[in-house]
Amino acid sequence: MRLRNVKDADKIVASSKYVINNPENYKGNFKKLFNKERKIHIEIGMGKGDFIIGMAKKYPDINFIGIEKYASVMVRAIQKLEEEELDNLKLICIDAMQIDEIFKKEIDAIYLNFSDPWPKSKHAKRRLTSPIFLEKYASLFVNSPHIVQKTDNIGLFAYSIMSLSQFGYTLESVSLDLEHENIDNVETEYEKKFMSLGVKINYLDAVKYLEK
Ligand SMILES: C[S@@+](CC[C@H](N)C(=O)[O-])C[C@H]1O[C@@H](n2cnc3c(N)ncnc32)[C@H](O)[C@@H]1O
Repeated sequence: MRLRNVKDADKIVASSKYVINNPENYKGNFKKLFNKERKIHIEIGMGKGDFIIGMAKKYPDINFIGIEKYASVMVRAIQKLEEEELDNLKLICIDAMQIDEIFKKEIDAIYLNFSDPWPKSKHAKRRLTSPIFLEKYASLFVNSPHIVQKTDNIGLFAYSIMSLSQFGYTLESVSLDLEHENIDNVETEYEKKFMSLGVKINYLDAVKYLEK
């Protein structure tokens, strides 16, 4: 999802009070950027922000960071935040490939919502649950690694289940129809669109228990 021709998107993003510029300077110290030191949950590929903004409002006792590759997309989230005063939300505009250069042992959970499926096998390494990314995420977590994924794409979902299992994650919860589960859920922009079309949403919650 790349929105073109969003005038001054880079400038709007860089000047937002929600955006962390030069995030590499805070590696290992992100908790100090928030008013209160609390668990940090991140969403990679936050798009226009409905999920991460909704989560920050619903869970004021957790600090949230939304990550998005394109300023032209993030600017839509910033517009939604204009009327808000959320002290438990920050945004970072980077490619997830850099994620292990930004965080170190400070994240409690990662959300991957409707990530690009990269269906061709030659592009599998770009999927956000590929071993390359799981390896990068490993250095981010402060406790047991915890990943929550939602997707309409059954191919990506099956791939994620395999990839996470092979990487030592335990699937705590799996659903092929999130709408009909009793699972606490904040909807994303894509989720709302798919649900309105009657598309079922796949969901997983995976934890990698560390040996003591
Ligand atoms: C299909 S959209 C889903 C947006 C939102 N999560 C939702 O569920 O509505 C995928 C988003 O992930 C972003 N994205 C894709 N690859 C990324 C990467 N490597 N790093 C950061 N963001 C990425 C895209 O720019 C896009 O905004």
